[in-house]
Amino acid sequence: MPRNILVTNALPYANGDIHLGHLVGYIQADIWVRYQRMQGHTVHYVCADDTHGTPVMLRAEKEGVTPEQLIARVHGEHLRDFTDFSVDFDHYHSTHSDENRWFAEDIYGKLKAAGLIETRAIEQFYDPLKAMFLPDRFIKGECPKCGALDQYGDNCEVCGAAYAPTDLKNPVSAVSGARPEMRSSEHYFFKLSDPRAVDFLREWTQGAGADGARRLQAEAANKMKEWLGEPGENKLSDWDISRDAPYFGFEIPGAPGKYFYVWLDAPIGYFASFKHLADQSGRIDVARFIDGTAAAGTELVHFIGKDILYFHALFWPAMLHFAGYRTPTQLAVNGFLTVDGAKMSKSRGTFITARSYTEQKLNPEWLRYYFAAKSNGTMEDVDLSLDDMIAKVNSDLVGKFINIASRCAGFITKRFEGKLAAPALDALATYRASLDAGEVARAYEARDYSRALREIMRLADHANQYVNDNKPWELAKQAGQEARMHTVCSTALNQFRVLAGLLKPILPSVAAQVEAFLNIAPLQWAQLTDTLPAGHAIDKYQHMLTRIERAQIDALIEANKSSLAPQPEQSSRQRHAEAQQKDAEAATTADAHIGIDDFTKVELRIAKIVSAEHVEGADKLLRLQLDIGEAKPRQVFAGIKSAYDPATLVGRLTVMVANLAPRKMKFGLSEGMVLAAADEGGKTPGLFILSPDAGATPGMRVK
Ligand code: 2FM
Ligand code: ZN
Repeated sequence: MPRNILVTNALPYANGDIHLGHLVGYIQADIWVRYQRMQGHTVHYVCADDTHGTPVMLRAEKEGVTPEQLIARVHGEHLRDFTDFSVDFDHYHSTHSDENRWFAEDIYGKLKAAGLIETRAIEQFYDPLKAMFLPDRFIKGECPKCGALDQYGDNCEVCGAAYAPTDLKNPVSAVSGARPEMRSSEHYFFKLSDPRAVDFLREWTQGAGADGARRLQAEAANKMKEWLGEPGENKLSDWDISRDAPYFGFEIPGAPGKYFYVWLDAPIGYFASFKHLADQSGRIDVARFIDGTAAAGTELVHFIGKDILYFHALFWPAMLHFAGYRTPTQLAVNGFLTVDGAKMSKSRGTFITARSYTEQKLNPEWLRYYFAAKSNGTMEDVDLSLDDMIAKVNSDLVGKFINIASRCAGFITKRFEGKLAAPALDALATYRASLDAGEVARAYEARDYSRALREIMRLADHANQYVNDNKPWELAKQAGQEARMHTVCSTALNQFRVLAGLLKPILPSVAAQVEAFLNIAPLQWAQLTDTLPAGHAIDKYQHMLTRIERAQIDALIEANKSSLAPQPEQSSRQRHAEAQQKDAEAATTADAHIGIDDFTKVELRIAKIVSAEHVEGADKLLRLQLDIGEAKPRQVFAGIKSAYDPATLVGRLTVMVANLAPRKMKFGLSEGMVLAAADEGGKTPGLFILSPDAGATPGMRVK
């Protein structure tokens, strides 16, 4: 049965570059779409820029352009990057579009009619200089838990505490530097806590679509159980969907000065893009894909990163359901990208932009191949191991796949005017029998491309074995072996054709070159094992794919060490990811040496803990008095409460940083820091303070 599928990728924000972390999800989706089309299914594949919100508005202001000018520029950049990586959307739209406004108003109106919209006054920080309410990420101040300065309004990068911006001490506006005031304002809420919504989501997140397949991967469904709580429990809060002017977005109908929050109209952008596509093509029935009553028999599949699961598995299906639209058939959730086992890092040059990759003349098909080899259809993170990528591309793709054609094609062109002989039917039959095309198809369907590639590469080994056993280059030198050599090369090219077809979803541009070279119609799944007949004329072979050289990767890393200017306005998710990245960088400094001078700047001394006590109101801290041979002990607040009973610490020797600038905290002055070990990977829980060997005395310098 031919399927009709609307496929989307998460909409990238219109104020940042596309990087390799983004591309994991886009490439996974594009492969899936190409595979479905090869099977003869109809797929509409759309995306758009996510253009609204305060960060875009402020970014435009800073660049001295209008938001419309900014988003127009970025739209061009994003589309160019996707095109370069053969991520081939049928349409790439914008959430700042007429279609999106129409759908947003329609959905909002229907939710309102269903009694699911409510207004409530909330207190929020307001910047009196900029005359605007401040999103959490634009407020800075001192952490309410540990007192660290210059922390954002939602969590502390020093102690990790999460809090509300109103908890910050001495808050300032990150936009103007003014001291923000609390002001009350009327906000619009989508009543997610309504029992109708909770009941619906409980069923929806655990259930299956019409075809019996689960809507959510097992890990995602489990996460939802956690978020929704046990039956009878109601853990969902209403969702604040409005923001006050000035805001770049859509004004809410009937609510002057109130705008839809960016996350309300972002997923609606999927439909807006699709509608635009349909209007352009004139041949697509939009209602069949998005209408709650007309969409049986079509599918809606969203490819997203795991960081936005919450929006797509809760808010979005609830909005759609209660507004009478169809809900997604499937969420295909991917993990984050790590590079060489660590978070992408600007300082190490592994925060690699799509642009730099193509500018350095690296072949996008290498990355598509490698990402496919590392994708298994789960939410696990994908690691781009640079050495492994070089090895896999060079040995599998060039060494096993391309090599078949490059070893055989020349003989056909030179000796037989480009015309094939009939292949050796027995050899071809054994070859075909060894292919489990159904297994490859199931793996593609499940987005387990790594499994698909294992099967394909097994087949490539078989083809290479055939060429190695029959050695056309030797036959070419032997008298009377002409016909046999013709047969061997023709058989091998038939085998090569099958491989090219199997790899086509992953390597569209190589597959197109193969189709041109073999002079055949676009490869389809149903014709994978067709035979190129005797007399079929092929084109001259031109090399299709080169090997990766380590120097190219090194140049790419080098280019990214300086190519990204820091982005001041980031979402808290991005900042959180970067904070984790900084941790990871701190943990893996092997490639970032410091000189001895740097080390000796840190004055480490043996300290005797003369007293240790709990601190009222602090969850993590103990107050320590440390004797380092000075006239008076030093007071230090150490975040080790979770690991130590203060009584067991008194009298112990440990190591402290003695020349750290004193820091004023809510509970008093902290005059140094004690050192403790912790497993940053998180396998061994706990904190372990250091102890010197017997004989060390308070005040001794540690060098
Ligand atoms: O997280 C992000 O990058 C968002 N711009 C994704 C939006 S996806 C969809 F909902 F629009
Ligand atoms: Zn803190």
